[in-house]
Amino acid sequence: MKRLLSLTIQWARLLEELNMEYPRHFLDLDRFNKKTLRKILSMGVYFKNTPLSKLTRKPLANKTVAMLFEKPSTRTRVSFEVGIHQLGGNAIILDDSMTQLGRRETIADVARVLSRYVDGIIIRTDNSEKLEEFQRNSSIPVINGLTNNSHPCQIMADIMTYEEHRGNILDRSVAWIGDGNNVAVSWVHAASKFSFKISIATPPDFGLPTDVISWAKNERCALKITADPVQAISNADLVVTDTWVSMGEKIKKKNLSLLEPYQVNSDLMHKAASDALFMHCLPANRGKEVTTKVLDGTQSVVWDEAENRLHAQKGILAWCIAENQFLE
Ligand code: CP
Ligand code: NVA
Repeated sequence: MKRLLSLTIQWARLLEELNMEYPRHFLDLDRFNKKTLRKILSMGVYFKNTPLSKLTRKPLANKTVAMLFEKPSTRTRVSFEVGIHQLGGNAIILDDSMTQLGRRETIADVARVLSRYVDGIIIRTDNSEKLEEFQRNSSIPVINGLTNNSHPCQIMADIMTYEEHRGNILDRSVAWIGDGNNVAVSWVHAASKFSFKISIATPPDFGLPTDVISWAKNERCALKITADPVQAISNADLVVTDTWVSMGEKIKKKNLSLLEPYQVNSDLMHKAASDALFMHCLPANRGKEVTTKVLDGTQSVVWDEAENRLHAQKGILAWCIAENQFLE
């Protein structure tokens, strides 16, 4: 009996270490251990580098994945749908007018019903609580396709993109300039999990959520926070920005003039390392958070970044949904 108990504990520890419990959700980077995120990323790189015809076994064969969008999307929707097909699965798109998550019936009930039909679900929602409630009631993997609080799939693609161009991101310096939004939060999570330095420059009113700052401190993450974009960008290896108004934010409530000094333009880019890269998750507002010259300039890798959503997410899909033998 004692032996059985000890074996069970050892097995549980192993699963925990590899984040291998089922269902395997992809909710936020801060919930993962470093090893698992590296594994997911390397699976994405493998899918990118392996022609589809050479994939002897399709990891999502006979699997169906639903995608539920409460907010607009181009990249997330299309890259996931294409990725699911390329891995041998079927995708079903559910837009909010159809499902009316939490309005037509409770979120828990939708989660229970979909768990009986499909093998995984990707959710983009305006409220991260809805994602949490869904996953608590779901017996299938749930993937975060963006919430008001985070955008983890994006950052997996971004890390893949950085490493393709410049090698391992370990100990490199990333500068986030602009609004302390959902994408910035996932960048901070990634800084701890992939061991790089991050400087966040935002106007004081638009800083990172305090719980994220406390988490980063606890994790001993190399996070610097400043209101000065020049200080944050100095010698950075990678410069990142995003829209000043995220989907669902009330534009009238935000004094956008406070963000104007945070525009990533050529003058500011010159303060970064001479071989620094520029990233933006897109959609971009040219002439607002970034100038056209920077977005279309030689340091910008935004199109590779957009492409890598497809490849990185194939790694995520396979990790979450494929049978265990694909993960060995
Ligand atoms: N970057 C990103 O998530 O783009 P979409 O909003 O178009 O999906
Ligand atoms: N911060 C942006 C990201 C869009 C992909 C938003 O939430 O609208």
